[in-house]
Amino acid sequence: MSKGNEVVLELKNVTKIFKTHNNNMLTACRDISLNFYKGETLGIVGESGCGKSTLMKMIMQLEDPTDGEIIYRGQNITKLKGEKLRLNRRNIQMVFQDPTTSFNPRMKIRDIICEPLINFGLIKRCERDEVAKKYLDMVELSEDFLHRYPHNMSGGQRQRIGIARALALNPEVIIFDESTSALDVSIQKSILELITKLQRENDITIGFVCHDIALVTQICHQVVVMYLGNIVEIIPGEKLYKYATHPYTKTLISSVFDLNMDFSKKINCISGDVPSPIDRPIGCPFENCCESAMEICKKQIPKLRELSKNHYIACHLDLGEKNE
Ligand SMILES: Nc1ncnc2c1ncn2[C@@H]1O[C@H](COP(=O)(O)OP(=O)(O)OP(=O)(O)O)[C@@H](O)[C@H]1O
Ligand code: SF4
Ligand SMILES: [Mg+2]
Repeated sequence: MSKGNEVVLELKNVTKIFKTHNNNMLTACRDISLNFYKGETLGIVGESGCGKSTLMKMIMQLEDPTDGEIIYRGQNITKLKGEKLRLNRRNIQMVFQDPTTSFNPRMKIRDIICEPLINFGLIKRCERDEVAKKYLDMVELSEDFLHRYPHNMSGGQRQRIGIARALALNPEVIIFDESTSALDVSIQKSILELITKLQRENDITIGFVCHDIALVTQICHQVVVMYLGNIVEIIPGEKLYKYATHPYTKTLISSVFDLNMDFSKKINCISGDVPSPIDRPIGCPFENCCESAMEICKKQIPKLRELSKNHYIACHLDLGEKNE
């Protein structure tokens, strides 16, 4: 479901290969093409090590793609350097899983929030209290936090400060990389409500990386499923449970923990060894673990193809006409 279909950010055939310390080539992301739409949330799910953070770091220009292009509002930002790179950082901001690692522990909350604004020359130092108060209010924290330090706050409060700092530059895109995963469920819920409220009010485009497929279904317009550096399925969040088609996505869904689960039945989990991103299979990355694998799956990487409107999968199975 793409509301307005206004593309803000586009990834074109993006690949990232790392050279490891013993000179092996590790493919973290392979041939990724994606569109981020205005005011929408794009969720990325997949198991640990499948390349989610690497992809987000390339968008943030913290890692250079080995191949491919990242286009923001029609401009290729892949190779920006110097001042152009610095200025572009205003448009795309990130909230990390553990904000304490990205905050200077000796800085007060007021200064953590205002630092990007001062760096860009957008406010004067004497305006810090007033400006920080405004952002604290946006993330529903009182002004009592202005002169506190990050270690004097709870995990949920620190995450709100991370969001306030990201909002300060008025970015069009915010990336959340496992930003709520470490919080307990009730705090996670209130932070997610805050994120969706701020998104609605400010028309922000969000990239949301998460392990929890159930959560992603609830808050994401588009869900991207990754496996071993590849996109295996792209599906509207609202259709995920009913229409997920790729064997890997189906396994992810069937392994979601549910209080009404019948524990006498076998829980679906991935059988077979997950291949190494260094010694990648030449065919489908999921072939080793897939119960539907065919001969062709060993030899040919399936291309991403459109199954129905806004629904794509990379799989050799003959799926016929889909009526969603
Ligand atoms: N700087 C690096 N040098 C070498 N390999 C790297 C580097 N960064 C990531 N990798 C490798 O790239 C692959 C993808 O890593 P990435 O951190 O993107 O996964 P992820 O999906 O975010 O995992 P998680 O869910 O655990 O955060 C992994 O095999 C990882 O070991
Ligand atoms: S391409 Fe083949 S191995 Fe890969 S998911 Fe589809 S059926 Fe399974
Ligand atoms: Mg990660």
